[in-house]
Amino acid sequence: MDSRLNRFVAAWTPKINHVLKTDIEPDTDQRRLFEAMSYSVNAGGKRLRPLLTLATLTVFRQTITDSKLKAACALELMHTYSLIHDDLPAMDDDDLRRGKPTNHKVYGAGMATLAGDGLQALAFQWVVDNELAAQTRCQLSLALAKAAGPHGMASGQADDIQFEGTRLRLAELQKLDRNKTGALISYAVQAGLIMAGVAEKDQQPLLDFARNFGAAFQIYDDILDVVGDEKAIGKPVHQDSGKNTYPNLLGLAGAYDALKKTVDRAKDALKTADQTLQVDTSLLEDFCSYFVIKDEKHNGKTTR
Ligand code: IPE
Ligand code: IPE
Ligand code: MG
Ligand code: MG
Ligand code: MG
Repeated sequence: MDSRLNRFVAAWTPKINHVLKTDIEPDTDQRRLFEAMSYSVNAGGKRLRPLLTLATLTVFRQTITDSKLKAACALELMHTYSLIHDDLPAMDDDDLRRGKPTNHKVYGAGMATLAGDGLQALAFQWVVDNELAAQTRCQLSLALAKAAGPHGMASGQADDIQFEGTRLRLAELQKLDRNKTGALISYAVQAGLIMAGVAEKDQQPLLDFARNFGAAFQIYDDILDVVGDEKAIGKPVHQDSGKNTYPNLLGLAGAYDALKKTVDRAKDALKTADQTLQVDTSLLEDFCSYFVIKDEKHNGKTTR
């Protein structure tokens, strides 16, 4: 990982983790539910989504106040809810998440469902329960609702389970991924743009970056199911055999090829942002170093 990004991650991850550790309890009055929610939120995780929001704010030279930090952390609650429900026996039925037993393995499927419900609602509470301007809070909650709901993450998850065992076409898989994973990642950047007060007419290049970064993120997640290591990624591998994934549709080499093209599109969008908005988006470009791209057709040569 790039050293500037390393420094940014090292500076902000503890602050994000502190909010997530301390600010759930005061908003919860049921002990077991609180424990179940905190268990998954504080089990680890890369904190990619709040970090993307804070990086977007940094690109626009914004001071990161406590209110902006809290609003950024709301997305981690939403994301963790999506993971808890994704792992349920009725969905992906997974036993390991963030290196620990999944929520339902510890608390049971009923309490895990409620932990997800609680985190989803609390995410909306955190984007409005802060000192940001009323219009900013309103824009954040509308954007978050669209990203998480039946035109976003929930829609993609519905495609994922409805079409399990069948083979979608590439355009249908792209729609599935855009919703299930892309929508919350796009919202991460959008939340930064909203809090930085960037005019809607100027948001497009960075939204294009976010859309492509989100698409790349799910392609890479699909690849990690094939080539990843359970210990390193903290969740089981080789679980996606009946799923609509890039390696299942295009083969591993085809999936890496699609990943490279998608990451290149994300980087191109940043170049456009630099030129049209006169900003330095190199911190966001550094996030692309997360993707380790192997050229399967040329002896596994690695690029980032
Ligand atoms: C996993 O997300 C679920 C997907 C959308 C692919 P992350 O890979 O960001 O998981 P954590 O937050 O680091 O655990
Ligand atoms: C799920 O995609 C994305 C979510 C909305 C949680 P996956 O089912 O591929 O995520 P993992 O691999 O379990 O993290
Ligand atoms: Mg899933
Ligand atoms: Mg899953
Ligand atoms: Mg996966």
